[in-house]
Amino acid sequence: MAARILDGKALAETVRAEVRVSVDAFKAKYGRAPGLEVILVGDDPASQVYTRNKEKASNEVGMRGRLHVLPAATPEDEVLALVQRLNADEATDGILVQLPLPKGLREQRILDAVSPAKDVDGFHPINAGLLASGRPGLVPCTPRGCMRLLALAGATLKGARAVVVGRSNIVGKPVAQLLLAEHATVTIAHSRTEDLAAVCREADILVAAVGKADLIRGDFVKPGAIVIDVGMNRIDAGNGKTKLVGDVTFAEAAEVASAITPVPGGVGPMTIAYLLENTVTAATARME
Ligand code: GUN
Repeated sequence: MAARILDGKALAETVRAEVRVSVDAFKAKYGRAPGLEVILVGDDPASQVYTRNKEKASNEVGMRGRLHVLPAATPEDEVLALVQRLNADEATDGILVQLPLPKGLREQRILDAVSPAKDVDGFHPINAGLLASGRPGLVPCTPRGCMRLLALAGATLKGARAVVVGRSNIVGKPVAQLLLAEHATVTIAHSRTEDLAAVCREADILVAAVGKADLIRGDFVKPGAIVIDVGMNRIDAGNGKTKLVGDVTFAEAAEVASAITPVPGGVGPMTIAYLLENTVTAATARME
């Protein structure tokens, strides 16, 4: 059996078109555009690409998107001062601090400084707590993208066995909460899980979010399962170049699954689309 490939690029376009409509309605009602402020500290090349894409994507849907680039050696107090200034700025609806931060900056301290109402990444402990309490506020973007991909796949979540591999605050834990809210029976597996293959083989819905190429082989996948691959691993392509792969050995898993996300072009494009969606949500909530 060959799995259906879930096209995240096309689905992200659909989400962006939905956001464009919401942005137009917001502008008509409030006379201003939703504002997204992206903060990049340092010069990590991947982060430079991601943050430029976030700025560009927000402007493309009619928001006011701005990128703040600070040198790697910026003292923590200066980063905090920028966050505080944006927290107090009426025209700022969303604040995103790009991760990873350079060494010497305390990630938790900086993320905790973002106003929960403007926390479009959904990383603030208040938003994480609301999600875990079953009354979500701003929900992390990548997990929201995973859920939309599952909807595209036509997944029945109620009563399904879902296995999430990875327990990060950014993906693993929040996606597990979202699956639980949809009445799936959820297992969170991780690097210390014994017999990961057997645990994964239980899954009707398998979400891989570890960051390790070829962690999930074809024989980890239950026949007919839906596989969502959140991994983004750059590996040697063997021709002097590198290539991007997920956590799942795609060719093997696609033989067994009923539907699977590719890397690239699966979950990745959905993250930015839901960042835009979260920004309109935050903007609307602030104005109401
Ligand atoms: N770095 C990698 N992914 C993300 C993300 O979703 N948000 C932020 N802020 N930084 C990231």
